[in-house]
Amino acid sequence: MRIAVLNGPNLNLLGIREPELYGSDSLEDIESSVRDRARSEGVEILWHQTNHEGEFVDLVQGLRGNVAGALVNAAGFTHTSLAIRDAFLAVRVPFVEVHLSNIFAREPERRHSLLADIAVGIVSGFGSLGYLLAFDAMVAHVKSREG
Ligand code: DQA
Repeated sequence: MRIAVLNGPNLNLLGIREPELYGSDSLEDIESSVRDRARSEGVEILWHQTNHEGEFVDLVQGLRGNVAGALVNAAGFTHTSLAIRDAFLAVRVPFVEVHLSNIFAREPERRHSLLADIAVGIVSGFGSLGYLLAFDAMVAHVKSREG
């Protein structure tokens, strides 16, 4: 099984970026914990981070036929990007939406996600642990669909 992890803008700054909100783990720390978990499950991980919306759209388009599912932290694009929503609607690859912070407990403009209703589910508010929770959920989802 292959699973992609797509990370949006400013997540490359995790660890130094507003640690009171996002924690002290760097994106590399999170990547290695997800890769460790994936290795123990025999799952291959494709890991990406981009600060550019068009590149994010290209990454979503590239999921089609390539992965069983995805974990997606679209960061600020979550609340703004119809183009990324359209890309997921086009490729129809199942994904879990992940946020380090609880977006529903933050400013009004962050409480709405353009992806949530087309995701399998959301993990939001558990910090970097959320990536592992989302990974486990995605693997279980794919396995349940394989029967
Ligand atoms: C975030 C929440 C978003 O609102 C914000 O723009 C981010 C990070 C999170 O992981 O909590 O960049 O996606």
